[in-house]
Amino acid sequence: MASVEFVNVKKSFGAQPIIKGVDVQIDDGEFVILVGPSGCGKSTLLRMLAGLENITAGEIRIGDKVVNQMPPKERDIAMVFQNYALYPHMTVADNMAFSLKLKGASQATIDERVRPAAEILGLTHLLQRFPRQLSGGQRQRVAMGRAIVRDPQVFLFDEPLSNLDAKLRVAMRAEIKELHQRLKTTTVYVTHDQIEAMTMADKIVVMHDGIVEQIGAPLELYDQPVNLFVAGFIGSPSMNMIKGRVDTADASRFIAQDGTVLPVRNPADSMKGRDLVYGVRPEAMRLDPAGVPLQVLVVEPTGSETQIMAKLAGADVTCVFHDRVAARPGDTLHVAIDTNSTHIFDAASGLRL
Ligand SMILES: Nc1ncnc2c1ncn2[C@@H]1O[C@H](COP(=O)(O)OP(=O)(O)OP(=O)(O)O)[C@@H](O)[C@H]1O
Ligand SMILES: [Mg+2]
Repeated sequence: MASVEFVNVKKSFGAQPIIKGVDVQIDDGEFVILVGPSGCGKSTLLRMLAGLENITAGEIRIGDKVVNQMPPKERDIAMVFQNYALYPHMTVADNMAFSLKLKGASQATIDERVRPAAEILGLTHLLQRFPRQLSGGQRQRVAMGRAIVRDPQVFLFDEPLSNLDAKLRVAMRAEIKELHQRLKTTTVYVTHDQIEAMTMADKIVVMHDGIVEQIGAPLELYDQPVNLFVAGFIGSPSMNMIKGRVDTADASRFIAQDGTVLPVRNPADSMKGRDLVYGVRPEAMRLDPAGVPLQVLVVEPTGSETQIMAKLAGADVTCVFHDRVAARPGDTLHVAIDTNSTHIFDAASGLRL
C-alpha cells in the first residue's frame, strides 16, 4: 500500500490544456473517488497515475517516489476499466492468474494468490468456467479478481460499474466497499455517478473542466459546498437554486425575483447589494400552511417518498417529501424551508457566502 500525491499536475493534448493544475493528496489506504461531468479529465488523471499517459507539468508521487518517468509496469498499480476485457478462451482461474503467469510465478504461488481472491469475491465455484458462461456481475468480479491477485500498492477503477444494470450496480458497490475494508489497499475510483461517490468514498474529489473544485468527505461536500458547481453536482435530486438579492435593510430576508421572501441562515452585510443565488435542498422543505407558496407541476410518488416538481419563488424546483402528498398538477401547496439546509452564493463568482 502507498500514499498518492498529485502536485500541480497539468496535461495538454496538443495545444489544448485538459488538466489545468491539479493538487490531490491521497493517504495510504484511503478510498478516493474522482467525480465530475463527462470530459472534465477524470480518466486522463487516472491514466497519468497508471503511467498510460505522460504528464505535461507537475509531479505524481506514489509512496515517496516521483513516478513521472516510471513505466507503468514498475508502478505496482492494478487498474480495472469500464470495459474489463476478459480473455474469452481462458477460464476464470486462468484469467485471474494471467499477470502472475506473465511474471513467471510458480503454480504454488498462483494457487496461493488466486484461491483467497476467488474466495473473497465469491468466485470459487466458478473458477473453471469461461467468461461467456458468466453473468455481467460475475465477469466484473473476475476483472476485480485479476487486480486483487496482483496485490498492488494502489487500485485504480475507471467507471467499473457503468455497464451493469441498476440493481447489480448497487450490489457491486457494496462488494467493492467491503473489499476495500478487508484489503485496505489505497484506491482511486472514477465515476460520474454521484450516488456511487457519496456511498463509497472516504474522500471525494469534485472535478470540473480540468480543475479540482473541492475535496472533502461526502457529507462535508453535501453540507458545505464551496461553490455553485459543487452544490449543484453533489446531491440527488440537485439543490434548488433561486435568484434574487437580500433586503438592503435586513440581510436575513432574501427577496427572490418574484418578490417572495425566504429566510437567510447566516445573514451578513457583505450579502447586500449583490446578485445572489439562494440554494435549498429538495428534502429541506416541509408542508406548512404558513409557508411560501409552491405551484405544483408534476407529482411523482415512489412509495417511500413523494417527489414534486414545482415553481417556487419564480424558480423551477424539486421537493422531496418523506410521506405521501395528495397533490395534483395545478395545485398550490405551502412549504416551510429548513433554514439550516440553505446556502447563499454570490451569483457572479459562484462562491458560497
Ligand atoms: N488522447 C487524447 N487526445 C486528445 N484529447 C483527448 C485525449 N484523451 C482525452 N482527451 C480529451 O480530454 C478531455 C478529458 O477526457 P477524459 O477522458 O479524461 O474525461 P472524463 O472526465 O474521463 O470523461 P467521461 O466521464 O466521459 O469518461 C476530453 O475533452 C477529451 O476529449
Ligand atoms: Mg472517463
